[in-house]
Amino acid sequence: MLSTLLLALFYAATLCLAQLALPNPPYIPPDAANGARQSFGRLQPNPQWSNLLGNLLYFYEAQRSGKLPSTNRVSWRNSSTENDGKDVNLDLSGGYFDAGDFIKATFPLSAALTSICWGATDYGKAYDTTKQTAYLDDMLRWGLDWLMKAHPSDNTLYVLVGNTDTDDAYWGGDQGIPTYRPSYQINDTNPGTDAAAGASAAFSACSNLYANRGFGGPFSSPASLQNSSYADTLLTHAQQLYSFAVNASGGQKTYQTSVPATAKSYASSAYTDELTLAALLLSWATNSTSLYQDAENYYQQFKLAGNNGVFNWDSKTPGLAVLFAQMTQSSETLGGNLSSWQSEAERYFDRIVNKQGPAFLTEGGLLYYNGDSDDASINPALNAAMLLTRYAPLASTSEKKNSYIQFAQSQVDYVLGNNPMHGASLPHTRRTMPNMNPLVPYIVGSHPNSPSNPHSAMASGGNSASDIDTSPKEEAYVLYGAVIGGPDRRDRYFDIRSDWPETEVALDYNAPMLTLAAMHVLNGLNDPFFVNLTIGAYESSRPKGLPCDSAFPKGCAGPHLSRGAKIAIGVVVTVVGLLIIGLLAWYLRTLKRSKTA
Ligand SMILES: *[C@@H]1O[C@H](CO)[C@@H](O)[C@H](O)[C@H]1NC(C)=O
Ligand SMILES: *[C@@H]1O[C@H](CO)[C@@H](O)[C@H](O)[C@H]1NC(C)=O
Ligand SMILES: *[C@@H]1O[C@H](CO)[C@@H](O)[C@H](O)[C@H]1NC(C)=O
Ligand SMILES: *[C@@H]1O[C@H](CO)[C@@H](O)[C@H](O)[C@H]1NC(C)=O
Ligand SMILES: *[C@@H]1O[C@H](CO)[C@@H](O)[C@H](O)[C@H]1NC(C)=O
Ligand SMILES: *[C@@H]1O[C@H](CO)[C@@H](O)[C@H](O)[C@H]1NC(C)=O
Ligand SMILES: *[C@@H]1O[C@H](CO)[C@@H](O)[C@H](O)[C@H]1NC(C)=O
Repeated sequence: MLSTLLLALFYAATLCLAQLALPNPPYIPPDAANGARQSFGRLQPNPQWSNLLGNLLYFYEAQRSGKLPSTNRVSWRNSSTENDGKDVNLDLSGGYFDAGDFIKATFPLSAALTSICWGATDYGKAYDTTKQTAYLDDMLRWGLDWLMKAHPSDNTLYVLVGNTDTDDAYWGGDQGIPTYRPSYQINDTNPGTDAAAGASAAFSACSNLYANRGFGGPFSSPASLQNSSYADTLLTHAQQLYSFAVNASGGQKTYQTSVPATAKSYASSAYTDELTLAALLLSWATNSTSLYQDAENYYQQFKLAGNNGVFNWDSKTPGLAVLFAQMTQSSETLGGNLSSWQSEAERYFDRIVNKQGPAFLTEGGLLYYNGDSDDASINPALNAAMLLTRYAPLASTSEKKNSYIQFAQSQVDYVLGNNPMHGASLPHTRRTMPNMNPLVPYIVGSHPNSPSNPHSAMASGGNSASDIDTSPKEEAYVLYGAVIGGPDRRDRYFDIRSDWPETEVALDYNAPMLTLAAMHVLNGLNDPFFVNLTIGAYESSRPKGLPCDSAFPKGCAGPHLSRGAKIAIGVVVTVVGLLIIGLLAWYLRTLKRSKTA
């Protein structure tokens, strides 16, 4: 009798829960010193990779906006910006602050959620075995519940809350955030195909996760957070947003055309990739051959084949061939052609691993895209590693498979410390690399050598926009689990707080590393690279000079070529060039003469 009652109470309690119960005691990131402990592959799952996965998720908790729940683990965070949306009579509180500042930006948020849900669908067991699934659920709902609020009617989507200029002028904690936080929307007459399709893709990808619609084959099962009613709600938003993207009466256009305020921080380069991705993910969510056909048609119509560019929050095209291949190997009824998607994916990946450009390897071995890598060098490399590792088991030959895995590993190792971060003389000394100390693992709080000055207004504890670097001298809080922007193209990392291209944190920076950590939890017992690094070595020899990036344009003149040397080289090149032209003209004239003679 009593047990029946208890059982009934238990079920009543579970029904009341909106989401998975969080672990008690909670997971709290261990001190960075823990990152220097080898585990020698003795434990499964590997404790270092488990912590990394947990820390990467924890970072998102530190980025929360709105009223924080009692389960908040980040002791130095407070509730904030609870009036978001009041200007448009909506509740747009909640969600995530985008990066080191306080705007809430829908387009990159959607990209991050898509990436995380896709990864948790393919490598879900990693979240389960590390006991992080409840945190994953919590993290996703904090973003998805907000995204639903930002989509209050079929053809309205809020794409930005906060003002970039106001935000740039403020540097301080979460209690003094400027209250001027306008809400910007796209709608039927002023649409944004990319933002609507990008949000649709996030809802579809996460609906697939919550509904347990995995890809099978070489992939793991989705993380165990299934909830069919939540999955259905997400799917409804995905469908509405896809229709909005396709059929808005204002036509198809990039969202910054309709909302110029978004252009400064997150202008989109095209909407064709998001539209294709939205159709593709929705086809999987609804098992629809006609949507799948739409996705293939878009791919052709928009000429997405042959793309060699970066994969990131803006440019999703390289991920499409991978997803097409995954879906095609998994479903016979959708009608895709696996070998043609393999060719397309492998054409792209082979150029990367064979260094055929446009991306190149820095001297220290980081995959680098001119332009895209300049303001955050690690993100393109991790995104490539994430796609390569996921695609590898679908490769047409084992040689390709191995080369993809190896290349991906080299990028992950670089980010986790196998990099030549050892001073300004780097590019010209050509000393053998990599096993030189000091080395930096580019994830905050994961090792004693991790960056200690991430560009995060909240974590810094400072409150003066004109004195970001030295006030306070030491960053007030450790922003555990944050992947930072990354070193410059000469592999140099300066750890300067105001140097946002190198030190800023962002929702989309963490996303590929989260999936890579999940892959590693499942695929190996080896520790992450940083466990063997010599502690404290970075501190003793920071690079000299200034970074070469858009926060420090002067740094690009750099210590390695003086202006005089450049002018001298310019003169030599010009003289040699003129000489060649002169000789050529003389030769051609002689040739002409001899012919006419
Ligand atoms: C599923 O999610 C919905 C929406 O958040 C929630 O109301 C419901 O309680 C959840 N169901 C379970 C079994 O957790
Ligand atoms: C949260 O509030 C406390 C107490 O006012 C403050 O010390 C702390 O810096 C705040 N956190 C942030 C991120 O501003
Ligand atoms: C539609 O969006 C545009 C751009 O944000 C905005 O100027 C306009 O007021 C919106 N229309 C309505 C009816 O809210
Ligand atoms: C777009 O509108 C057309 C014409 O009304 C309709 O047939 C089609 O289903 C719509 N597409 C989407 C994705 O809603
Ligand atoms: C998808 O639809 C096909 C028929 O078009 C059916 O054979 C298949 O079982 C469906 N798959 C799922 C997962 O429902
Ligand atoms: C699939 O694609 C391959 C290579 O692109 C092509 O040779 C083959 O004919 C295609 N198969 C079908 C059934 O269309
Ligand atoms: C760390 O060094 C040990 C030997 O001391 C080696 O067995 C292990 O593979 C190394 N770990 C990594 C991740 O390099």
